[in-house]
Amino acid sequence: MPNGNGMSDRRAMYNRNDFKLGLFGANCSSGRAITKVAERWSGNWEDNLALARMSDEAGLDFLLPIGRWKGYGGETNYQDETFETVTWATGLLAATRRITVFATVHAPLLPPVIAAKQFMTADHISQGRFGLNIVCGWNTGEFEMFGVNQRDHEDRYDYGQEWIDAIRMMWEREDTFDFKGKYINLASVRSNPKPYGGSRPLIMNAGASPTGQAFAVKNCDALFCTPTGAETVDQLADGIQHAKKLAIAQGREIDVYSVGVVTCRPTTKEAEEYHRHCIIDDADWSAVDNILAMKDVRPETVGSEEFTRRRKHQAHGMGGIPIVGDPDAVAAEIARIAGVGLRGIGISFVNYLAELPYFRDEVLPRLERMGLREKRI
Ligand SMILES: Cc1cc2nc3c(=O)[nH]c(=O)nc-3n(C[C@H](O)[C@H](O)[C@H](O)COP(=O)(O)O)c2cc1C
Repeated sequence: MPNGNGMSDRRAMYNRNDFKLGLFGANCSSGRAITKVAERWSGNWEDNLALARMSDEAGLDFLLPIGRWKGYGGETNYQDETFETVTWATGLLAATRRITVFATVHAPLLPPVIAAKQFMTADHISQGRFGLNIVCGWNTGEFEMFGVNQRDHEDRYDYGQEWIDAIRMMWEREDTFDFKGKYINLASVRSNPKPYGGSRPLIMNAGASPTGQAFAVKNCDALFCTPTGAETVDQLADGIQHAKKLAIAQGREIDVYSVGVVTCRPTTKEAEEYHRHCIIDDADWSAVDNILAMKDVRPETVGSEEFTRRRKHQAHGMGGIPIVGDPDAVAAEIARIAGVGLRGIGISFVNYLAELPYFRDEVLPRLERMGLREKRI
């Protein structure tokens, strides 16, 4: 149960874990592993509910879903079955006690008055454990399905700015007000009650471009960044420091998180073999190629060497740091990742529910002994 209501309590996710750990992508079929293996993640509600309860009991800090509206094709039709994330988060928040659960929302697809109310409702149901991941959009095919035009890259973030400004006003202002923007015009707006406990939900964003990151620095409590194909974890350190400095220059603070893809087995050999089996030998390569093509990454556009590298990187999902090994190696790698200045990491497994118990029993105690996580009684 939350023990405070302020923004610092929310940012700490109501615990004293120095390094936050969450699960990323469980609301989608296959999660973040573009693989054909039979045991790949179902993404169904029963499994999501069991996973959320197990994560809550294990003391994980957050669940972060993917905002996805249709699949990527391939043999498995990768991520074709997905739960809408505000309702998914609300259901899971009602069934858990401690964990923070985010929704991942495409700003141009959800009118701000409905959005502000939905987020506030989830926040009350959970007594302040709801978080918002703002996505401004990149997947044009998904926008077409809504009959919504994808704006130019810079304009997407201008729209996102108005959207979150309007929502913040609804969360904060007691009076009736008009909102006059370039894109959003609202008359005589009121929105009550306010979010739970006199503060507001955590806000995060995962912009990778300078504009996307500037948006995060201005508006968000957390920025998620993943190393690009060529980048190492150590190189990520520069980006983290850069984002933090930008925030300080604006009198703000921002926590930087990243994304990891975990394969943990009793021996490193077993882990490496399983990882290779799922992510290389039995990858759904046609889905991988569809995703890359949507981003205009083809041998003709980027060259065959870069294409091969990006293809291998993409098979983990939409990027992420591979963390593969026995429990000692996995804990050591997480500690190394924490050491570059990250506040936390959203991880995924091929089958979250089958693999979390081993991670919980073997890796979490090691992280506690390393002082990265609070000892659980
Ligand atoms: C951790 C993470 C989570 C993301 N989640 C989603 C998502 O669920 N849905 C989506 O359409 N885009 C998602 N994105 C894409 C980003 O919102 C963003 O569009 C992308 O990183 C490109 O950055 P830019 O908009 O600054 O160019 C995610 C990116 C990252 C790194």
